[in-house]
Amino acid sequence: MSTIENYDVIVLGAGAAGLFCAALAGARGKRVLLLESGERTGRKILISGGGRCNFTNTGTKPANYLSENPHFAKSALARYTPRDFIALVEKHGIAYHEKTLGQLFCDGGAHVIVTMLETECREAGVETRLRTPVEKVEKIDDGFAVTTPSGVLHATSVVVATGGLSIPKMGATGIGYDIARSFGLDIVEPRPGLVPFTFSEAEAERWSDLSGLSAEVVATANPKKKQRTPPPVFREKLLITHRGLSGPAVLQISSYWRHGEPVTIDLAPGYEVFLHMLEPTTRRDETTMLNLLRDHLPTRFAERWLTENAPPDWKNTSIQRTEALVHAWPVTPAGTEGYAKAEVTAGGVSTAELDSTTMQAKRVPGLAFIGEVVDVTGWLGGYNFQWAWASAFAAAAAL
Ligand code: FDA
Repeated sequence: MSTIENYDVIVLGAGAAGLFCAALAGARGKRVLLLESGERTGRKILISGGGRCNFTNTGTKPANYLSENPHFAKSALARYTPRDFIALVEKHGIAYHEKTLGQLFCDGGAHVIVTMLETECREAGVETRLRTPVEKVEKIDDGFAVTTPSGVLHATSVVVATGGLSIPKMGATGIGYDIARSFGLDIVEPRPGLVPFTFSEAEAERWSDLSGLSAEVVATANPKKKQRTPPPVFREKLLITHRGLSGPAVLQISSYWRHGEPVTIDLAPGYEVFLHMLEPTTRRDETTMLNLLRDHLPTRFAERWLTENAPPDWKNTSIQRTEALVHAWPVTPAGTEGYAKAEVTAGGVSTAELDSTTMQAKRVPGLAFIGEVVDVTGWLGGYNFQWAWASAFAAAAAL
Protein backbone atom coordinates (compact mmCIF):
# COMPACT_ATOMS: atom_id res chain seq x y z
CA MET A 1 0.00 0.00 0.00
CA SER A 2 1.49 3.37 -1.01
CA THR A 3 1.50 6.14 1.57
CA ILE A 4 0.95 9.75 0.57
CA GLU A 5 4.03 11.90 1.09
CA ASN A 6 3.58 14.90 3.37
CA TYR A 7 5.47 18.19 3.32
CA ASP A 8 5.19 21.48 5.16
CA VAL A 9 5.49 23.34 1.86
CA ILE A 10 5.31 22.37 -1.80
CA VAL A 11 6.66 25.03 -4.17
CA LEU A 12 5.44 24.71 -7.77
CA GLY A 13 7.98 25.81 -10.39
CA ALA A 14 11.77 26.03 -9.98
CA GLY A 15 12.27 29.38 -11.68
CA ALA A 16 13.66 32.49 -9.98
CA ALA A 17 10.79 32.92 -7.52
CA GLY A 18 10.29 29.24 -6.73
CA LEU A 19 13.97 28.44 -6.14
CA PHE A 20 14.41 31.41 -3.84
CA CYS A 21 11.20 30.79 -1.90
CA ALA A 22 12.03 27.10 -1.44
CA ALA A 23 15.51 27.95 -0.12
CA LEU A 24 14.16 30.53 2.32
CA ALA A 25 11.38 28.27 3.58
CA GLY A 26 13.85 25.40 4.01
CA ALA A 27 16.21 27.69 5.92
CA ARG A 28 13.32 28.41 8.29
CA GLY A 29 13.18 24.72 9.14
CA LYS A 30 10.28 23.73 6.88
CA ARG A 31 10.19 20.44 5.04
CA VAL A 32 10.08 21.73 1.47
CA LEU A 33 9.47 20.00 -1.86
CA LEU A 34 10.19 21.93 -5.07
CA LEU A 35 8.45 20.58 -8.19
CA GLU A 36 9.58 21.52 -11.69
CA SER A 37 8.15 20.32 -14.99
CA GLY A 38 11.38 20.88 -16.92
CA GLU A 39 14.64 19.00 -17.14
CA ARG A 40 16.47 21.54 -15.02
CA THR A 41 15.94 24.50 -12.70
CA GLY A 42 16.18 28.22 -13.50
CA ARG A 43 15.87 27.93 -17.28
CA LYS A 44 14.80 31.54 -17.79
CA ILE A 45 17.55 32.80 -15.53
CA LEU A 46 20.04 31.10 -17.86
CA ILE A 47 18.83 33.02 -20.93
CA SER A 48 18.20 36.29 -19.08
CA GLY A 49 20.06 39.51 -19.63
CA GLY A 50 21.63 38.22 -22.85
CA GLY A 51 23.10 35.28 -20.86
CA ARG A 52 24.46 37.48 -18.04
CA CYS A 53 21.30 37.83 -15.93
CA ASN A 54 20.33 41.37 -15.03
CA PHE A 55 19.51 40.11 -11.53
CA THR A 56 18.30 43.35 -9.95
CA ASN A 57 18.07 47.11 -10.33
CA THR A 58 19.50 49.30 -7.59
CA GLY A 59 16.86 51.97 -8.26
CA THR A 60 13.87 49.63 -7.77
CA LYS A 61 10.69 51.49 -6.77
CA PRO A 62 7.03 50.46 -6.82
CA ALA A 63 6.59 52.89 -9.73
CA ASN A 64 8.70 50.53 -11.88
CA TYR A 65 5.86 48.00 -11.90
CA LEU A 66 2.49 47.70 -13.66
CA SER A 67 -0.46 46.24 -11.83
CA GLU A 68 -4.19 46.88 -11.52
CA ASN A 69 -3.23 47.87 -7.97
CA PRO A 70 -0.01 49.89 -8.13
CA HIS A 71 0.26 49.80 -4.30
CA PHE A 72 0.29 46.01 -3.99
CA ALA A 73 4.02 45.48 -4.55
CA LYS A 74 5.11 48.15 -2.06
CA SER A 75 5.24 45.98 1.06
CA ALA A 76 7.22 43.09 -0.46
CA LEU A 77 9.63 45.41 -2.30
CA ALA A 78 10.32 47.32 0.92
CA ARG A 79 10.97 44.17 2.94
CA TYR A 80 13.42 42.60 0.47
CA THR A 81 15.44 45.19 -1.39
CA PRO A 82 18.08 45.06 -4.15
CA ARG A 83 20.67 45.56 -1.36
CA ASP A 84 19.53 42.30 0.25
CA PHE A 85 19.92 40.33 -2.97
CA ILE A 86 23.29 41.96 -3.69
CA ALA A 87 24.44 40.80 -0.23
CA LEU A 88 23.48 37.23 -1.16
CA VAL A 89 25.28 37.49 -4.51
CA GLU A 90 28.38 38.81 -2.72
CA LYS A 91 28.19 36.05 -0.08
CA HIS A 92 28.50 33.58 -2.96
CA GLY A 93 31.50 35.45 -4.39
CA ILE A 94 29.71 36.31 -7.64
CA ALA A 95 31.33 39.14 -9.60
CA TYR A 96 28.94 41.69 -11.08
CA HIS A 97 28.84 45.12 -12.64
CA GLU A 98 26.40 47.95 -13.25
CA LYS A 99 25.66 48.33 -16.95
CA THR A 100 23.40 51.36 -17.01
CA LEU A 101 20.48 52.88 -15.10
CA GLY A 102 21.11 50.78 -11.97
CA GLN A 103 21.01 47.46 -13.88
CA LEU A 104 23.29 44.86 -12.27
CA PHE A 105 24.61 42.00 -14.41
CA CYS A 106 26.89 39.04 -13.64
CA ASP A 107 30.41 39.46 -15.02
CA GLY A 108 30.33 35.80 -16.09
CA GLY A 109 27.39 33.68 -17.23
CA ALA A 110 23.90 33.71 -15.73
CA HIS A 111 24.46 30.10 -14.59
CA VAL A 112 26.20 31.42 -11.46
CA ILE A 113 22.87 32.78 -10.21
CA VAL A 114 21.19 29.40 -10.78
CA THR A 115 24.08 27.65 -9.01
CA MET A 116 23.76 30.11 -6.12
CA LEU A 117 20.02 29.41 -5.75
CA GLU A 118 20.52 25.64 -6.08
CA THR A 119 23.22 25.80 -3.40
CA GLU A 120 20.91 27.73 -1.09
CA CYS A 121 18.20 25.10 -1.68
CA ARG A 122 20.57 22.22 -1.03
CA GLU A 123 21.94 23.77 2.17
CA ALA A 124 18.38 24.38 3.36
CA GLY A 125 17.48 20.72 2.78
CA VAL A 126 15.01 21.37 -0.05
CA GLU A 127 14.02 18.28 -2.02
CA THR A 128 13.79 19.09 -5.75
CA ARG A 129 11.98 16.92 -8.30
CA LEU A 130 12.53 17.68 -11.98
CA ARG A 131 10.35 16.45 -14.89
CA THR A 132 7.36 16.61 -12.56
CA PRO A 133 4.59 18.74 -14.07
CA VAL A 134 1.93 19.71 -11.56
CA GLU A 135 -1.56 18.97 -12.85
CA LYS A 136 -3.80 20.37 -10.13
CA VAL A 137 -3.98 21.55 -6.54
CA GLU A 138 -6.97 20.82 -4.31
CA LYS A 139 -7.88 21.81 -0.78
CA ILE A 140 -8.00 18.99 1.74
CA ASP A 141 -8.77 19.13 5.46
CA ASP A 142 -5.32 19.97 6.81
CA GLY A 143 -3.72 21.51 3.73
CA PHE A 144 -3.51 20.80 0.02
CA ALA A 145 -3.23 17.85 -2.36
CA VAL A 146 -0.93 18.37 -5.34
CA THR A 147 -1.45 16.03 -8.27
CA THR A 148 1.45 15.05 -10.54
CA PRO A 149 1.72 12.23 -13.11
CA SER A 150 3.70 10.23 -10.54
CA GLY A 151 1.18 10.60 -7.75
CA VAL A 152 -0.49 12.88 -5.24
CA LEU A 153 1.49 14.78 -2.61
CA HIS A 154 0.23 16.58 0.48
CA ALA A 155 1.42 19.83 2.05
CA THR A 156 0.26 22.29 4.69
CA SER A 157 1.07 25.17 2.30
CA VAL A 158 1.50 25.48 -1.45
CA VAL A 159 3.41 28.25 -3.21
CA VAL A 160 2.56 28.71 -6.91
CA ALA A 161 5.64 30.01 -8.74
CA THR A 162 4.93 28.68 -12.20
CA GLY A 163 5.51 31.97 -14.04
CA GLY A 164 3.56 33.39 -16.97
CA LEU A 165 3.00 32.44 -20.60
CA SER A 166 6.14 34.00 -22.07
CA ILE A 167 8.48 31.75 -24.07
CA PRO A 168 6.40 28.54 -24.24
CA LYS A 169 9.40 26.64 -25.60
CA MET A 170 11.09 27.18 -22.20
CA GLY A 171 8.24 25.43 -20.39
CA ALA A 172 5.84 28.34 -19.80
CA THR A 173 2.32 27.13 -19.08
CA GLY A 174 -0.90 28.67 -17.85
CA ILE A 175 -1.09 26.21 -14.92
CA GLY A 176 -0.72 28.97 -12.32
CA TYR A 177 -3.79 30.73 -13.69
CA ASP A 178 -5.67 27.39 -13.87
CA ILE A 179 -4.88 26.69 -10.22
CA ALA A 180 -6.02 30.21 -9.24
CA ARG A 181 -9.25 29.80 -11.23
CA SER A 182 -9.92 26.40 -9.67
CA PHE A 183 -10.05 28.18 -6.29
CA GLY A 184 -12.35 30.86 -7.73
CA LEU A 185 -9.66 33.57 -7.79
CA ASP A 186 -9.82 36.38 -10.36
CA ILE A 187 -7.23 36.70 -13.12
CA VAL A 188 -6.31 39.95 -14.81
CA GLU A 189 -6.30 38.93 -18.50
CA PRO A 190 -2.69 37.97 -19.28
CA ARG A 191 -0.98 39.67 -22.24
CA PRO A 192 2.56 39.72 -23.63
CA GLY A 193 4.79 42.42 -22.09
CA LEU A 194 8.27 43.71 -22.93
CA VAL A 195 7.65 42.56 -26.48
CA PRO A 196 8.47 43.99 -29.95
CA PHE A 197 5.66 45.61 -31.95
CA THR A 198 4.69 44.38 -35.41
CA PHE A 199 3.65 46.58 -38.35
CA SER A 200 0.73 46.07 -40.68
CA GLU A 201 1.74 44.69 -44.09
CA ALA A 202 1.66 48.16 -45.64
CA GLU A 203 3.75 49.70 -42.84
CA ALA A 204 6.20 46.79 -42.94
CA GLU A 205 6.68 47.39 -46.67
CA ARG A 206 7.41 51.05 -45.95
CA TRP A 207 9.88 50.51 -43.11
CA SER A 208 11.35 47.01 -43.01
CA ASP A 209 14.26 47.71 -45.39
CA LEU A 210 15.54 50.04 -42.67
CA SER A 211 15.82 47.07 -40.30
CA GLY A 212 18.77 47.52 -37.94
CA LEU A 213 18.60 51.32 -37.74
CA SER A 214 18.12 52.78 -34.28
CA ALA A 215 17.67 56.13 -32.55
CA GLU A 216 17.36 57.48 -29.03
CA VAL A 217 13.72 58.45 -28.56
CA VAL A 218 11.11 59.09 -25.92
CA ALA A 219 8.19 56.65 -26.18
CA THR A 220 4.82 57.15 -24.50
CA ALA A 221 1.68 55.00 -24.45
CA ASN A 222 -1.68 56.67 -25.02
CA PRO A 223 -4.22 54.47 -23.27
CA LYS A 224 -7.84 55.09 -24.22
CA LYS A 225 -8.99 53.86 -20.83
CA LYS A 226 -8.26 56.33 -18.03
CA GLN A 227 -5.43 55.02 -15.84
CA ARG A 228 -5.05 55.50 -12.08
CA THR A 229 -1.55 56.76 -12.74
CA PRO A 230 -0.52 58.09 -16.16
CA PRO A 231 1.77 55.71 -18.05
CA PRO A 232 5.45 56.65 -17.83
CA VAL A 233 7.62 57.90 -20.67
CA PHE A 234 10.78 55.99 -21.64
CA ARG A 235 13.87 57.69 -23.05
CA GLU A 236 15.82 54.82 -24.58
CA LYS A 237 16.71 53.30 -27.96
CA LEU A 238 14.17 52.44 -30.66
CA LEU A 239 15.18 49.81 -33.21
CA ILE A 240 13.55 49.18 -36.58
CA THR A 241 13.19 45.43 -37.25
CA HIS A 242 12.04 43.37 -40.25
CA ARG A 243 8.63 42.98 -38.64
CA GLY A 244 8.14 46.27 -36.80
CA LEU A 245 9.74 48.12 -33.92
CA SER A 246 11.85 46.97 -31.01
CA GLY A 247 14.63 48.30 -28.78
CA PRO A 248 14.36 49.09 -25.07
CA ALA A 249 12.05 52.13 -25.51
CA VAL A 250 9.56 50.03 -27.48
CA LEU A 251 9.78 46.98 -25.19
CA GLN A 252 9.10 49.20 -22.17
CA ILE A 253 6.10 50.91 -23.72
CA SER A 254 4.68 47.62 -25.05
CA SER A 255 3.73 46.56 -21.52
CA TYR A 256 1.40 49.56 -21.31
CA TRP A 257 0.01 49.16 -24.84
CA ARG A 258 -3.40 47.79 -25.77
CA HIS A 259 -4.53 46.67 -29.24
CA GLY A 260 -5.69 49.49 -31.50
CA GLU A 261 -4.07 52.27 -29.49
CA PRO A 262 -1.31 54.47 -30.87
CA VAL A 263 2.00 55.02 -29.12
CA THR A 264 3.71 58.38 -29.40
CA ILE A 265 7.38 58.67 -30.25
CA ASP A 266 9.52 61.76 -29.83
CA LEU A 267 12.29 61.34 -32.39
CA ALA A 268 14.41 64.25 -31.15
CA PRO A 269 13.73 64.58 -27.43
CA GLY A 270 14.75 67.93 -25.96
CA TYR A 271 15.73 69.55 -29.26
CA GLU A 272 14.16 72.08 -31.61
CA VAL A 273 14.72 70.43 -34.97
CA PHE A 274 13.07 72.52 -37.69
CA LEU A 275 12.37 75.81 -35.93
CA HIS A 276 15.63 77.31 -37.27
CA MET A 277 13.86 77.31 -40.60
CA LEU A 278 11.58 80.05 -39.32
CA GLU A 279 14.55 82.44 -39.23
CA PRO A 280 14.69 84.69 -42.30
CA THR A 281 18.31 83.72 -43.05
CA THR A 282 17.63 79.96 -43.21
CA ARG A 283 16.62 78.27 -46.44
CA ARG A 284 13.24 76.61 -46.50
CA ASP A 285 13.57 73.48 -48.57
CA GLU A 286 13.70 69.71 -48.32
CA THR A 287 17.50 69.52 -48.17
CA THR A 288 17.64 71.88 -45.18
CA MET A 289 14.92 69.91 -43.41
CA LEU A 290 16.70 66.60 -44.05
CA ASN A 291 20.02 68.00 -42.83
CA LEU A 292 18.40 69.20 -39.62
CA LEU A 293 16.69 65.86 -38.97
CA ARG A 294 19.90 63.93 -39.74
CA ASP A 295 21.41 65.45 -36.60
CA HIS A 296 18.98 63.22 -34.65
CA LEU A 297 18.26 60.19 -36.84
CA PRO A 298 20.31 57.96 -39.15
CA THR A 299 20.16 59.43 -42.69
CA ARG A 300 17.94 56.74 -44.22
CA PHE A 301 15.55 56.91 -41.26
CA ALA A 302 15.37 60.71 -41.60
CA GLU A 303 14.78 60.49 -45.37
CA ARG A 304 12.00 57.92 -44.97
CA TRP A 305 10.35 59.87 -42.18
CA LEU A 306 10.29 63.01 -44.30
CA THR A 307 8.89 61.12 -47.29
CA GLU A 308 5.87 60.48 -45.09
CA ASN A 309 5.77 63.63 -43.02
CA ALA A 310 7.37 66.58 -44.83
CA PRO A 311 5.18 69.70 -44.78
CA PRO A 312 3.05 70.42 -47.86
CA ASP A 313 4.52 73.94 -48.12
CA TRP A 314 7.06 76.16 -46.34
CA LYS A 315 4.66 78.39 -44.38
CA ASN A 316 5.53 79.01 -40.70
CA THR A 317 2.52 77.03 -39.52
CA SER A 318 3.46 74.04 -41.67
CA ILE A 319 7.02 74.01 -40.32
CA GLN A 320 5.70 74.32 -36.78
CA ARG A 321 3.33 71.43 -37.42
CA THR A 322 6.22 69.25 -38.62
CA GLU A 323 8.20 70.25 -35.53
CA ALA A 324 5.27 69.12 -33.37
CA LEU A 325 5.00 65.88 -35.33
CA VAL A 326 8.65 64.95 -34.92
CA HIS A 327 8.14 65.16 -31.14
CA ALA A 328 4.83 63.30 -31.10
CA TRP A 329 4.97 60.85 -34.00
CA PRO A 330 1.93 58.60 -33.61
CA VAL A 331 2.52 54.94 -34.47
CA THR A 332 -0.27 52.39 -34.24
CA PRO A 333 1.27 48.92 -34.10
CA ALA A 334 -0.65 46.11 -35.81
CA GLY A 335 0.19 43.85 -32.88
CA THR A 336 3.12 42.36 -30.99
CA GLU A 337 5.41 39.41 -31.58
CA GLY A 338 3.42 37.61 -28.87
CA TYR A 339 4.45 35.24 -26.10
CA ALA A 340 7.14 33.63 -28.28
CA LYS A 341 9.18 36.85 -27.95
CA ALA A 342 7.72 38.51 -24.83
CA GLU A 343 10.14 38.78 -21.90
CA VAL A 344 7.24 38.80 -19.45
CA THR A 345 3.53 38.23 -19.13
CA ALA A 346 1.60 41.25 -17.89
CA GLY A 347 -1.62 40.57 -15.96
CA GLY A 348 -2.04 37.39 -13.93
CA VAL A 349 -3.51 36.45 -10.56
CA SER A 350 -5.37 39.54 -9.38
CA THR A 351 -3.66 41.32 -6.52
CA ALA A 352 -7.12 41.99 -5.09
CA GLU A 353 -7.19 38.27 -4.22
CA LEU A 354 -3.82 38.27 -2.41
CA ASP A 355 -2.53 39.51 0.92
CA SER A 356 0.37 41.81 0.04
CA THR A 357 2.41 40.82 3.10
CA THR A 358 2.11 37.02 2.76
CA MET A 359 1.23 36.58 -0.96
CA GLN A 360 -1.43 34.10 0.19
CA ALA A 361 -4.90 34.10 -1.30
CA LYS A 362 -7.14 35.93 1.17
CA ARG A 363 -9.87 33.34 0.57
CA VAL A 364 -7.50 30.35 0.65
CA PRO A 365 -4.99 30.71 3.50
CA GLY A 366 -1.88 28.62 2.89
CA LEU A 367 -2.01 29.01 -0.90
CA ALA A 368 0.48 31.66 -2.07
CA PHE A 369 1.29 33.06 -5.54
CA ILE A 370 4.68 34.65 -6.26
CA GLY A 371 6.74 35.96 -9.17
CA GLU A 372 5.44 36.47 -12.68
CA VAL A 373 2.18 34.55 -12.20
CA VAL A 374 0.93 37.52 -10.14
CA ASP A 375 -0.44 40.69 -11.76
CA VAL A 376 2.77 42.61 -11.01
CA THR A 377 5.00 43.25 -14.02
CA GLY A 378 8.30 45.07 -13.92
CA TRP A 379 9.95 47.33 -16.44
CA LEU A 380 12.93 46.10 -18.42
CA GLY A 381 16.13 46.36 -16.37
CA GLY A 382 16.25 43.78 -13.57
CA TYR A 383 12.92 44.74 -12.01
CA ASN A 384 11.22 41.43 -12.78
CA PHE A 385 13.83 39.40 -10.97
CA GLN A 386 13.68 41.82 -8.04
CA TRP A 387 9.93 41.16 -7.87
CA ALA A 388 10.60 37.40 -8.00
CA TRP A 389 13.04 37.67 -5.05
CA ALA A 390 10.88 40.09 -3.03
CA SER A 391 7.59 38.21 -3.47
CA ALA A 392 9.37 34.91 -2.68
CA PHE A 393 10.79 36.45 0.51
CA ALA A 394 7.37 37.74 1.59
CA ALA A 395 5.75 34.34 1.00
CA ALA A 396 8.54 32.37 2.73
CA ALA A 397 8.41 34.60 5.81
CA ALA A 398 4.75 33.71 6.30
CA LEU A 399 5.06 29.92 5.87
P1 FDA B 1 9.76 31.47 -14.31
O1 FDA B 1 9.08 31.47 -15.62
O2 FDA B 1 11.18 31.87 -14.24
O3 FDA B 1 9.65 30.02 -13.64
C1 FDA B 1 8.47 29.27 -13.67
C2 FDA B 1 8.87 27.81 -13.58
O4 FDA B 1 7.70 27.02 -13.44
C3 FDA B 1 9.58 27.34 -14.85
O5 FDA B 1 10.77 26.69 -14.48
C4 FDA B 1 8.59 26.36 -15.47
O6 FDA B 1 9.21 25.31 -16.18
C5 FDA B 1 7.84 25.87 -14.24
N1 FDA B 1 6.52 25.32 -14.54
C6 FDA B 1 5.60 25.77 -15.42
N2 FDA B 1 4.52 24.98 -15.40
C7 FDA B 1 4.75 24.01 -14.48
C8 FDA B 1 4.02 22.89 -14.01
N3 FDA B 1 2.82 22.56 -14.49
N4 FDA B 1 4.58 22.11 -13.03
C9 FDA B 1 5.80 22.39 -12.53
N5 FDA B 1 6.55 23.43 -12.97
C10 FDA B 1 6.03 24.22 -13.91
N6 FDA B 1 14.06 39.75 -15.88
C11 FDA B 1 14.98 40.49 -15.23
O7 FDA B 1 14.70 41.02 -14.16
N7 FDA B 1 16.25 40.64 -15.76
C12 FDA B 1 16.61 40.06 -16.94
O8 FDA B 1 17.77 40.15 -17.36
C13 FDA B 1 15.61 39.33 -17.66
N8 FDA B 1 15.90 38.80 -18.90
C14 FDA B 1 14.96 38.04 -19.53
C15 FDA B 1 15.26 37.50 -20.79
C16 FDA B 1 14.33 36.71 -21.45
C17 FDA B 1 14.64 36.16 -22.82
C18 FDA B 1 13.08 36.43 -20.82
C19 FDA B 1 12.06 35.53 -21.48
C20 FDA B 1 12.77 36.99 -19.58
C21 FDA B 1 13.70 37.81 -18.93
N9 FDA B 1 13.41 38.39 -17.70
C22 FDA B 1 14.35 39.16 -17.06
C23 FDA B 1 12.13 38.12 -17.01
C24 FDA B 1 12.36 37.04 -15.94
O9 FDA B 1 13.03 35.94 -16.54
C25 FDA B 1 11.03 36.57 -15.34
O10 FDA B 1 10.30 37.68 -14.88
C26 FDA B 1 11.29 35.63 -14.17
O11 FDA B 1 11.99 34.50 -14.65
C27 FDA B 1 10.00 35.20 -13.52
O12 FDA B 1 10.31 34.27 -12.52
P2 FDA B 1 9.23 33.20 -12.05
O13 FDA B 1 9.98 32.30 -11.11
O14 FDA B 1 8.02 33.86 -11.59
O15 FDA B 1 8.84 32.38 -13.36
